[in-house]
Amino acid sequence: MKGKRILLGITGGIAAYKIAFLIRLLKKEEAEVRCIMTPASCDFISPLTISTLSENPVYIDFWNQTNGEWTNHVDLGMWPDIFLIAPLTANSLAKLAHGYCDNLLTATYLSAKCEVIVAPAMDLDMYAHPTTFLNLEILQSHGVKIIPAEEGELASGLVGKGRLAEPETIVDVLKTHFQKKNDFIGKKVLITAGPTYEHIDPVRFIGNHSSGKMGFDIARCLLDQGAEIILVSGPTKETLHHPKLNLIKVISADEMLESVQQNWSNCTIGIFCAAVADYKPVMMSEQKIKKSDESFMIELVKNPDILEWAGQHKANNQFLVGFALETQNARQYAMNKKVKKNLDAIILNTLEDEGAGFGLTTNKIEIITPNNLFLSFPMKNKTEVASDIVSFIFENLD
Ligand code: CTP
Repeated sequence: MKGKRILLGITGGIAAYKIAFLIRLLKKEEAEVRCIMTPASCDFISPLTISTLSENPVYIDFWNQTNGEWTNHVDLGMWPDIFLIAPLTANSLAKLAHGYCDNLLTATYLSAKCEVIVAPAMDLDMYAHPTTFLNLEILQSHGVKIIPAEEGELASGLVGKGRLAEPETIVDVLKTHFQKKNDFIGKKVLITAGPTYEHIDPVRFIGNHSSGKMGFDIARCLLDQGAEIILVSGPTKETLHHPKLNLIKVISADEMLESVQQNWSNCTIGIFCAAVADYKPVMMSEQKIKKSDESFMIELVKNPDILEWAGQHKANNQFLVGFALETQNARQYAMNKKVKKNLDAIILNTLEDEGAGFGLTTNKIEIITPNNLFLSFPMKNKTEVASDIVSFIFENLD
């Protein structure tokens, strides 16, 4: 982080005492650190300590009480490579989420041109409150990165989630941020994720156990590298907010196809992770079906193959990746799918591997490349698998 300009915002919570240590770590990394403190934070740690450790004057008020000089929050907001706010109290979080600028720190936040990372810290009930959750979601949707609070003993004597992330963790997040690649800036990527639900009647459906995690992890990884994402997702618990993300929520395969048809021609990369139901009921009953006979038949009809449609409508400058989940003759079946659906690459996972598949946090993949080579990867968590897939795509784009 040598020479990186870090503007550190400190708000008024007990965790502010840890910031002295954080500044020491940042200085050890040879970063340049300037600090803005809210007036309330000065009750928890002295500006003299912060100024001494950061080797810079500390900014607290809009004007310097002694010489009457004005502190230009616009200039301050333009100075840093990153604006880190730690600890971020519930009160300051609410102000940032809703655009209040009643002190130098909140005004600088509104003026900041760089990326912002925040590390919230508060008591466990405050952290678990729906308002806090919503405010963090608002910040995320504005592109702010959150370093989640950690579990442990709190100043109140209670034990739970709300502690400021450890200074070492915060430094690691900053290091990763500065190492971040911007490989996908200017690229628009269409991703399908999650299961599809095919309605039988108003209360029942045919679906599957796909969690959507793989597709969301790939989206996160690409957003981190500057891509613009259209994520068409079936029903899932996964959430994601980002200014460069257009999340289109669908239920059925027909709805997913419609969204893909509307968006595919505007994208350069397609990654189709969705576990689309292969069949849907011929008819959806308008009313809840009552039980009657001992057996009950539902007539099913094949769903459209969304990936195949995208392959048929693929332009020369588009790169299309599909997934295959196989239980036998995996390589051969996957290769057939790659050819049939006109894919550039296919990601193969077999349910034979323990730890790979639906609803799990780990996965083991093999990629069939554009030249029909097999690239094998060890078992990893899905976030790392997403990163491998994204790196592979970048290396294989024209
Ligand atoms: N896919 C799709 N639309 C479908 C079915 C699948 O877009 N109606 C996509 C999936 O997102 C995945 C790939 O196609 O990328 C999976 O191929 P598929 O042939 O459907 O695999 P299986 O469902 O495993 O098919 P089969 O039962 O024939 O093995």
